[in-house]
Amino acid sequence: MALKLEGKVAIITGASSGIGEATAIALAQEGASVAIGARRGERLEALAKRIEASGGKVLPIVTDVTDEDQANNLVEKTNAELGRVDILVNNAGVALTGNIDGGNTADWRRMIDVNVLGVLYTTHAVLPIFKVQQTGHVVNISSVAGRVARAGVGIYNATKWGVNAFSEALRQEVLRDNIRVTIIEPGLVDTEINNHTTDPVAKKINEERRKAIVPLQSEDVAAAIVYAVTQPSHVNVNEILIRPTLQER
Ligand SMILES: NC(=O)c1ccc[n+]([C@@H]2O[C@H](COP(=O)([O-])OP(=O)(O)OC[C@H]3O[C@@H](n4cnc5c(N)ncnc54)[C@H](OP(=O)(O)O)[C@@H]3O)[C@@H](O)[C@H]2O)c1
Repeated sequence: MALKLEGKVAIITGASSGIGEATAIALAQEGASVAIGARRGERLEALAKRIEASGGKVLPIVTDVTDEDQANNLVEKTNAELGRVDILVNNAGVALTGNIDGGNTADWRRMIDVNVLGVLYTTHAVLPIFKVQQTGHVVNISSVAGRVARAGVGIYNATKWGVNAFSEALRQEVLRDNIRVTIIEPGLVDTEINNHTTDPVAKKINEERRKAIVPLQSEDVAAAIVYAVTQPSHVNVNEILIRPTLQER
């Protein structure tokens, strides 16, 4: 049976761990050539070897998405070396949670830079290519936190709310160019994301929340992404909210 993404090219940001890594593997398994971006080059090289070992085509590109030039380079290099771009998965993100009162403003800036500006830069870079091709798909990894606000998560909430608003406006702007936009909103996923939280109280709360339930695995979210990007071109899966069964909010 033909693979569903044979001949397609996908870019995945934040592919050095967690959801991004699992998504790169899943899209490659469906036949897509994958450009994988993140800052940790050695992790990208290790992932590239794994994908190549299973017969996939992969292009690692060290990228900090908060730098507009690097975001542009990720898209342009992919287009030049792999010949086109069909799917952009904006997955790179950080969750530096903590209360608003007394919060760490450096953490706030980093979240806004990575979670919001990073998504805007790569999307801005890819749209001209999608318009010439008259086809393309932007998949933005938002969160349940883009739909449900919680004390202690306010700035992360604001960034993911921003991703959702941006995605819906973008969808309306580009639909006539046959460009699709999908938001993926995972609940708790078992990844490294909490390792970077600087506030010890928030870190402990996050760990306890995760331990209290059976969290999603990155592969569960990757499967949702594969579903969205393998629909016929007249179908735009606008939004997938996916929680662990035991997650209440
Ligand atoms: N885990 C959850 O519970 C959960 C729930 C809902 C939504 N999400 C979202 O899912 C996405 C992936 O997170 P994850 O859970 O898989 O966490 P993760 O394992 O920590 O992965 C985050 C990825 O983002 C990359 N990244 C961070 N800053 C970057 C930058 N400036 N430029 C380029 N890449 C950068 C990291 O790579 P480098 O450090 O190598 O750059 C890493 O590959 C995020 O958008 C997150 O908000 C996660």
